[in-house]
Amino acid sequence: MDDKTDILKGMNFFIQTFGCQMNENDSERIAGLLVAAGAKKADSLEDSGVIIVNTCAVRAKSEEKLYSFLGRLRSLKKTNGAIIGIAGCIGQLYRAELFAKKPFLDFICGPDHYQELPEILSRCLGEKVVSASWSRRWKETPPRSILHTSPVSAYVTIMEGCDHFCAYCVVPFARGREKFRPLRNILAEIQDLTEQGYKEIQLLGQNVNSYRDPETGLSFSGLLRQIEGTQGVEWIRFITSHPQNLTPDIALAMHQSKTICHQLHLPLQSGASSVLGRMNRGYTRQDYLEKVGLLRRLMPEISLSTDIIVGFPGETEKEFEETRTALEEVRFANIFSFRYSPRPRTSAAKLTDDIPFEVKKRRLIEIQELQKRIQSEIHKAFVGQTMKVLCLGKSKKGGLAYSGRNEGYQVVNFNSGQDFSGRFVRVLITSWGPYSLRGESQGPV
Ligand code: 5AD
Ligand code: SF4
Repeated sequence: MDDKTDILKGMNFFIQTFGCQMNENDSERIAGLLVAAGAKKADSLEDSGVIIVNTCAVRAKSEEKLYSFLGRLRSLKKTNGAIIGIAGCIGQLYRAELFAKKPFLDFICGPDHYQELPEILSRCLGEKVVSASWSRRWKETPPRSILHTSPVSAYVTIMEGCDHFCAYCVVPFARGREKFRPLRNILAEIQDLTEQGYKEIQLLGQNVNSYRDPETGLSFSGLLRQIEGTQGVEWIRFITSHPQNLTPDIALAMHQSKTICHQLHLPLQSGASSVLGRMNRGYTRQDYLEKVGLLRRLMPEISLSTDIIVGFPGETEKEFEETRTALEEVRFANIFSFRYSPRPRTSAAKLTDDIPFEVKKRRLIEIQELQKRIQSEIHKAFVGQTMKVLCLGKSKKGGLAYSGRNEGYQVVNFNSGQDFSGRFVRVLITSWGPYSLRGESQGPV
């Protein structure tokens, strides 16, 4: 390490993460880099000489949450003079404009620049630093330089960015165009993680289905088959899939695999083909339902989850009703639902945001209530079954001892005389709630 980054030695840092699993993985990467440069991870904001806020730009609400958190940091800056900077999507989207809004910030680092952070931090003692230009090339993180949060389940990023340009979505502007990580690096990281004892690998990317190995051209289904051959991998999942890029061969690779979980997050966004057209999603309700049909023919027990937006410009009651009926038809294991909010640079931002807030709110509550009923029915049917659960550790709520997830990614809280943290355990399901299953351990798998 050169003299310039020596200031990091022994310095405490704190990373606050907003947003998705990609951001969580980026924060693990940033933490690894700073630790390698001699800095120490702090337990609280107050103890930190460096505070990095890893931001999410996807919805207006994510941005509001960030600004309220920054309010807290401004007061902290006055008392302890910490170096404060922004990483992630907001940094990339607004770049230097952010300094005008938040003059107490010291640096802005876009997603393509994390490896420069030790150097950025050393420079920003004397100046404000913005490092947020685009790169079209994949930037590889050195092996073993990620500080994983979980000792059991690890994220492995395989691609970044998105070329889809859905009308409402800021991601292509905040994360850039699609870039793919070389297959051999992905396989080497997975091999290494399994040797370290990780039980579950979650492949990450804004649109994993469009993966192409930049060196051989191998597709996502090819990648899944290659991972299948890696010794020691027990559970593989991937997020996020775009329905348009979900090919029959991906479904087949999942069906044929012993390790790829029969679980898929497949954002629908709306159940009305007319809204999907206005959203530029590239598929109709029928196309989506046909893909679900194929998945279920191959894997009848597959657990599906989705994202839904209510109140997209012009969404009529009839169109909203089609989202309700789609939820009834597919019976997702879980949904993430959002009120539409206009985002900068997107094509939908040019449309009038004409659905009143109260209507969006009511529609959101309606689909959440509907989903709660569907999930309760799905969960109830599990009572009496014994299932394989990856125990993630002590349970934080519900009064039961341990918490984990089953193959379908449903939360399972359970009692056990033995601590199975980090291991697979058989759990007999004895009761349920709309958001989790409860049971008793029957011993290791
Ligand atoms: N308004 C509301 N929800 C949005 N999402 C993305 N952009 C917006 C927006 N402008 C939701 C989509 C996406 C998820 C990550 O966030 O459902 O799948
Ligand atoms: Fe956004 Fe659409 Fe790309 Fe998903 S597929 S990241 S919603 S533009």
